[in-house]
Amino acid sequence: MTLALLTIPLLLLSTLSNMTGKANLLSGMQPSASSLHLGNYLGALVNWVSMQRDFNAFYVIVDLHAITVPQDPQELRTNTRRTAAQYIAAGINPQDSALFVQSHVPAHAELAWVLNCITGFGEASRMTQFKDKSQKAGSDSASVGLFTYPILQAADILLYQPKAVPVGEDQRQHLELTRDLAERFNTRFGQTFTMPEAHVLKETAKIYDLQNPTAKMSKSAQDPKGLVNLMDDDSTIMKKIKSAVTDTDSSIRVDWENKPGVSNLLSIHSSISGESLVSLEERFAGAGYGVLKGEVADVVINAVGPIRDRANDLMSDPTELDNLLASGAEKARKVAEDTLAKVYDRVGFIKAN
Ligand code: TRP
Repeated sequence: MTLALLTIPLLLLSTLSNMTGKANLLSGMQPSASSLHLGNYLGALVNWVSMQRDFNAFYVIVDLHAITVPQDPQELRTNTRRTAAQYIAAGINPQDSALFVQSHVPAHAELAWVLNCITGFGEASRMTQFKDKSQKAGSDSASVGLFTYPILQAADILLYQPKAVPVGEDQRQHLELTRDLAERFNTRFGQTFTMPEAHVLKETAKIYDLQNPTAKMSKSAQDPKGLVNLMDDDSTIMKKIKSAVTDTDSSIRVDWENKPGVSNLLSIHSSISGESLVSLEERFAGAGYGVLKGEVADVVINAVGPIRDRANDLMSDPTELDNLLASGAEKARKVAEDTLAKVYDRVGFIKAN
């Protein structure tokens, strides 16, 4: 009788919390630059904004990951807030989604430790991103933190029992490791983690470097003029687009092989304006590159300008921004602590009294 009485409200509670019927989603971004660029925005962020409607979304700014390579403390603080401001400005709604900073939720580091202990040394050594990054740093200066980076990422994910993890193609191997660790833990200690699914964002928007249009737009670009940053002012955007590399043949058409610069400009236009490439080609037939660049710049400025202005507004009130992040962390901790408590119990840790 007592049991039945207890069970009913519990059942009701869990039904209520599932009434939204939404599965969990988690993704993370590094606070390692002072501005996102157009490739980040069109390639990932736009998708995150649209996915927050269909999922119960957790978006984490991964400052613990950032310090796997040297960071200037003051810059890290600024970039963490700037990253948050840009995500909110671009449409991540801190009421619907949990937008939070990784170091505000200690369970990330705590679960990472447990997962470190079920990951093979050889298994971690096979991560190609570690191999690339440590080669660049030189094996003496590459940190142990960089080595276990993917295991911390697995902890980020598994704490939230997400069904979907939207990531770029470069994160596929880290997602595979995450799934292997989830399965291993579940098999050894009993069902604990939901099996996460990588949701590899399709390259609908191909955005390339304006100065080097066969390379993807990336923050490690050689020439800063190759990137349009979300935080750039209008005249900077105009200048960068006007000086984009094109070619000597003057026709305006999509031909990635022979005309990567022009194709990139058309693609940027199309992915923001929604106008089809065919229609753009028709409309610009016979026009000069100057005309194309002018219109692309206008389209980009119209899209990026309001995001930049809103992000700057948010940055001008860091207390308000920190409050938004605090409420995101609170939402996140509720879920994360629950998973961590299960994990600690399953591996045989006694409860602290
Ligand atoms: N490694 C990811 C990147 O560089 C960032 C990241 C950290 C992440 N934790 C995550 C992405 C969890 C998805 C899920 O892009």
